[in-house]
Amino acid sequence: MIASTLPASWYVDPGIAAAERRDVFGREWLCIGRDDALRRPGDYVATDVCGWQVLVVVDGDGRLRGHHNVCRHRAGPLVAAGCGSARSLVCRYHGWAYGLDGALRSARDFGAADGELDLDALSLHPVRVERWRSLLFVNVDLHGDAPPLLDALGTFADACQGFPMESLQTVAELEHPLACNWKTYADNYHEGYHVPLVHPGLNKEIDARRYEVTVDEAHRWVRHDAPARDGAVNEGRWLWRWPNLALNLYPSAMNVERYEPLDPGRCRLRYTYAAAPGIGEDELAAVLRVSGEITAEDVAICEAVQRGLASGAYDVGVLSPRHEGAVAAFHRWVRFAVDPASARL
Ligand code: FES
Ligand SMILES: [Fe+2]
Repeated sequence: MIASTLPASWYVDPGIAAAERRDVFGREWLCIGRDDALRRPGDYVATDVCGWQVLVVVDGDGRLRGHHNVCRHRAGPLVAAGCGSARSLVCRYHGWAYGLDGALRSARDFGAADGELDLDALSLHPVRVERWRSLLFVNVDLHGDAPPLLDALGTFADACQGFPMESLQTVAELEHPLACNWKTYADNYHEGYHVPLVHPGLNKEIDARRYEVTVDEAHRWVRHDAPARDGAVNEGRWLWRWPNLALNLYPSAMNVERYEPLDPGRCRLRYTYAAAPGIGEDELAAVLRVSGEITAEDVAICEAVQRGLASGAYDVGVLSPRHEGAVAAFHRWVRFAVDPASARL
């Protein structure tokens, strides 16, 4: 049977976007990049993930702690976005001071009578955090039912074996704003059907007719295989994991890609490139140039598709059994997360 796409309304509807934030991104382990910056007590990384202001810090015992970077006084930030090092977390608005463990230590010049303000009840709200093979994952766990990261990754972790992710160093971080729904970009990522038309340069390198996308339904991840035209062995592995992580792994480099919704018509694409120590500037520049060209081609088509989805002239499409099996799987997973009753029909 030929599978249908999600309806166009799911790509523009604020109600669907809110449900996805709650039931997809609020439930899943989300990669926020690599852990290079987290080595010693006090080292921290702060970032925005789907609107959650997340802070990961190494505590005094060397363990990772995750907090919402939102002060319990009046929601000020403890640290600015980015990475750094701090002995304690002092709010940038009125100076309340928290330990690295998130406990409120003092409320500067607050003026309450002794014992009137219960500091113990005003710790930073926690965020779950785990590190896996140089990657940092957070989970805001809105439903309180998230399994440990390794259980969630399942066989995806096996697929990454054989690549020296831990011995690489982060060499570049890039961000691209996209005028499309996050699923428009994910759909595009999930098929090589568009390669001959959208990526003429890449199409000269790979044999698009033999482009294969394999789906692991149990642990919700996808593998792409694209043989080189000249018969050269492709030493890389291109993997994707629900809901928004793509990993391109090579013998001496990797690219960590994630895309996060901002609102129904916009998302943000983030890349973290890492390479073996000593990569030459020319080699790195060449990698970034090729990646940038392919990204620009994908962004242009995805933004055009978003305009088509929003136009009112399109409702539901059909998916190629030959090329778009992973798109169909992705749509099942989205539907199951957002509307389990309809997904069983
Ligand atoms: S908001 Fe943090 S001290 Fe006021
Ligand atoms: Fe593409």
